[in-house]
Amino acid sequence: MFQHVEAFAGDPILTLNEQFAADPRPAKINLSIGVYLNDEQRIPLMGAVAAAEERLAQSFHPHPYLPMAGLPAYRAQSRALVFGDAHAERIATIQTLGGSGALKVGADFLKAWFPQARVWVSDPTWDNHKGIFGGAGFEVGTYPYYDRATHGVAFDAMLSALRALPAGDIVVLHACCHNPTGADLNQQQWRELALVVQERGLLPFFDIAYQGFGDGIAEDAFAIRHFAQLNIPLLVASSYSKNFAIYGERCGALHVSCKDAAEMQTVSGQLQSAVRKNYSSPPAYGARVIATVLEDQQLRAQWEAELGAMRQRMKQIRSELLAQLQAQLPGGDFDYLRVQQGMFSFTGLPVEQIRKLRDVHGVYLIESGRVCLAALSSAGVAPVARAMVQVMTV
Ligand code: LMR
Repeated sequence: MFQHVEAFAGDPILTLNEQFAADPRPAKINLSIGVYLNDEQRIPLMGAVAAAEERLAQSFHPHPYLPMAGLPAYRAQSRALVFGDAHAERIATIQTLGGSGALKVGADFLKAWFPQARVWVSDPTWDNHKGIFGGAGFEVGTYPYYDRATHGVAFDAMLSALRALPAGDIVVLHACCHNPTGADLNQQQWRELALVVQERGLLPFFDIAYQGFGDGIAEDAFAIRHFAQLNIPLLVASSYSKNFAIYGERCGALHVSCKDAAEMQTVSGQLQSAVRKNYSSPPAYGARVIATVLEDQQLRAQWEAELGAMRQRMKQIRSELLAQLQAQLPGGDFDYLRVQQGMFSFTGLPVEQIRKLRDVHGVYLIESGRVCLAALSSAGVAPVARAMVQVMTV
């Protein structure tokens, strides 16, 4: 029956992560998957999350189905975290299974109602963008994004490409901490881009998986809030995996900013229809934890402080690694660590060197050359710098 089924080639991130787990070498270091580890190399249990869990454990919570759209308090808090207090009446928000679930439900919704549109993703992008939009039936193309010479955004090329797109095409944008490069647009560039999107009648779909990991909660949402302020219709996939360190609970949200409250009601109904066809309704536990934190002034302040400390640790690790690399290979170009931000940087190392890092030194990066700095401990900085310099010079 299943003879014709082809073998899965594996996922460039998740399969590599499984290989890492099976690697018996004790000194191995995993800088592949986008997971934040503390300096003890553990996924942190944030204090605000632990306190919310304790509160939940003390109250009676049976396990009913959530509505298709998810937990109301979670939805309201999720919308406010991304958009601030503005435009609540015209934004349809549903709870989803992480950011990936938001992308998937959004993609299904778009395919149903914009069947002719094409989807454009940055070159490079998170591999699964292509998987999710392609899987929903879209033709997926790329627009220029990364400038290898400056390690920043190839902004002019990006704008020209978007200017040439037909009205109604969908453009996937990383709101902050671009995955995989860590290269972001500045606020002036977002303003310019918003004008092009508006002029051309494009439909932006923001992916914000790292809110709070770049410059701060509001700062990282700048682009989305600015586009919404201009009344540009848009979608957002947001995720709590990283900023609440709640990966396995699959907590995300999909937001659609509409023209007015009536349109929002209609769109909201269609999002729920897409949810029903995918998984009926989202899981409850993680959403309760997050809503408890965000609704409580004290817990929320605690969460923001803890998130700020995570952000600082990532910046610190960047500068420690930069210093080590510069000391060990003077004249080497490691500026990408300085100009990029968030969990990731794009090393530009060729794939043979990435494989050598893994096979010879037990240091795992994904083969695109992306490094997850958020998983590096201070103790790991020196060995990783040594290994990188060795593969670059031998
Ligand atoms: C990553 O990019 O490593 C993370 O977002 C995890 C994933 O699902 O790929």
